[in-house]
Amino acid sequence: MYEPLVSGGTVRKVWDGETELYRQHLLRLDAESRRNRFGGAVSDEYIRRYADPSALHDAVICGFFVDGVLRGAAELRLLEHPGEAEAALSIERAWQSRGVGSALFERVLLVARNRQIERLHVLCLAENWRMQQLARKFHAQLSFQSGGAIGKLKAARPPPLSIMRELAADSSDLAAAILDIPAHLAERFEHANDAAECRARDARYERLMLVDNWR
Ligand SMILES: CC(C)(COP(=O)(O)OP(=O)(O)OC[C@H]1O[C@@H](n2cnc3c(N)ncnc32)[C@H](O)[C@@H]1OP(=O)(O)O)[C@@H](O)C(=O)NCCC(=O)NCCS
Repeated sequence: MYEPLVSGGTVRKVWDGETELYRQHLLRLDAESRRNRFGGAVSDEYIRRYADPSALHDAVICGFFVDGVLRGAAELRLLEHPGEAEAALSIERAWQSRGVGSALFERVLLVARNRQIERLHVLCLAENWRMQQLARKFHAQLSFQSGGAIGKLKAARPPPLSIMRELAADSSDLAAAILDIPAHLAERFEHANDAAECRARDARYERLMLVDNWR
């Protein structure tokens, strides 16, 4: 049975209009997790471009939400070679080692299977033992080359119930996304207030400077 609740949060798809939440999640990753996710140190600017909605149109993202905030994600992208795709995971530090990666990986495997993906690739740094443990748990074959590890999984053909499982999960995801809307609106409102406060502070600062210069 599909179980969306894990470690105090909900696992569900990230819908097209929610890609900004994915971008904010990737920007919140600590330096080590960011390096592990992208295979090297990357700047905020790089992440902003990487997670621009136009750059994500062909990706399927499964997310882990806590109080409407995206704290973990599994991104699936089809590769040019038919029947092959790549998966990449990111969990914020406070939610790591609590089974979230495993739950997201299971969900992304279901999505891959239903898209007739026969081979799923997972790339990670050679020292990223946790990702390798996770891939092994799902019977991935690991190979190591030039500082990195590649996990390859053969996805089984989807049994008839597999598509039904994804559809059922999608409809409960949609309901969960609707429930998250108030939290997103509150966050936006807070940002808007912060920005207004900053502008007011800047204006106060400018005024002080003027008074200073005038003296
Ligand atoms: C790698 C990552 C996705 C793993 O997700 P996670 O939620 O931390 O992992 P899980 O809690 O599901 O654990 C997966 C397996 O890793 C191993 N593991 C996890 N934490 C562990 C710990 N502290 N000690 C020993 N083993 C551990 C276990 O084998 C575990 O499976 P089990 O609990 O069933 O035995 C996550 O830590 C992360 O996002 N890291 C930063 C980004 C990254 O490395 N991405 C991968 C490149 S694509």
